[in-house]
Amino acid sequence: MPGPKPQGERLLRLLREADGFVSGQEICRRFGITRAAVWKQVEALRRQGFSIEGVSSMGYRLSQEPEGLGVLALEPGIKTLRIGGRIIVSQETGSTNEDARELGRQGAEEGTVVIAESQTAGRGRRGRRWASPPHTNLYLSVILRPPLAPADAALFTLLAAVALCRTIREMYCLEPKIKWPNDLLLDGKKAAGILAEMEAEQDRIHFLVLGIGVNLNMTEEMFPEEILYPATSVSILLGRKVQRAGFARGLLESLDREYDGLLRQGAAPLMKAWMEHSAHTEKRIEVNTPQGPLKGRFLGIDETGAMILETAGGRRRTIHVGDVVKVR
Ligand code: BTN
Repeated sequence: MPGPKPQGERLLRLLREADGFVSGQEICRRFGITRAAVWKQVEALRRQGFSIEGVSSMGYRLSQEPEGLGVLALEPGIKTLRIGGRIIVSQETGSTNEDARELGRQGAEEGTVVIAESQTAGRGRRGRRWASPPHTNLYLSVILRPPLAPADAALFTLLAAVALCRTIREMYCLEPKIKWPNDLLLDGKKAAGILAEMEAEQDRIHFLVLGIGVNLNMTEEMFPEEILYPATSVSILLGRKVQRAGFARGLLESLDREYDGLLRQGAAPLMKAWMEHSAHTEKRIEVNTPQGPLKGRFLGIDETGAMILETAGGRRRTIHVGDVVKVR
């Protein structure tokens, strides 16, 4: 249920696609509006943080996007089939996963995205806290309504991990790795996490919330002291800040592609891609499970997303819940 399109949305798209200046006359012609109406729209966009140059002999040119994520609610500019028809951006919330769950219960459409500039109660797996300082990173939750059984829900953590890897690789030429089950590593340190939550009955998923937190512009000093694992951010690796809205767009498009692939071709290509990005394929690892620590060789994952571990004596164990604590 997308809301009414904001003023200036078409003009913004035109300026984004143009390679340089677009004349006022051309804008008037395309939209069938007066010069005064064009000026009003330019002013509306400027108030929303866009830098738009206006030169009387040449027209208008978009010279800078606003720094914040609010622009995604205004005009997402994404090319997707199912994800992002409605994008809600807030300055601060408790947890975007919590907000998305509430919206899901109220019947929000598949693909609805909830984004916040900061979270006061951002959560990770197993009740952990997710550091969510303002205007720094990306905290995003997507509502999906896949026509699948609850047993397939774990595939969505794999899907998000693959989409994250592909986006970071394509946009920044970095080589992220996936640490089972849901951590994304850069240079061996955690840079993103995934929290998939589901509301279902016995044989049908009502909806699924795919929550993703990515450390984009976090500096070393910003990480909390009591952090469990070594952590890093994209900007630490790149040595420069990244444009967060652009990253969010890329990630939503990538999630959409992987989701389409899963619905059309099933889980096999997704699992293959996951294995290609896995941080510990064939390596000896140690996993903390609710039943205690286990050591063995990581063989891969099954179609439920569970880990297959070869323990002493060549015995194969399937592990559904746990944390990889050591890789050798
Ligand atoms: C983990 O690594 O344990 C998962 C972290 C997931 C964090 C994201 S941030 C957006 C969404 N909202 C939350 O409260 N959590 C997820």
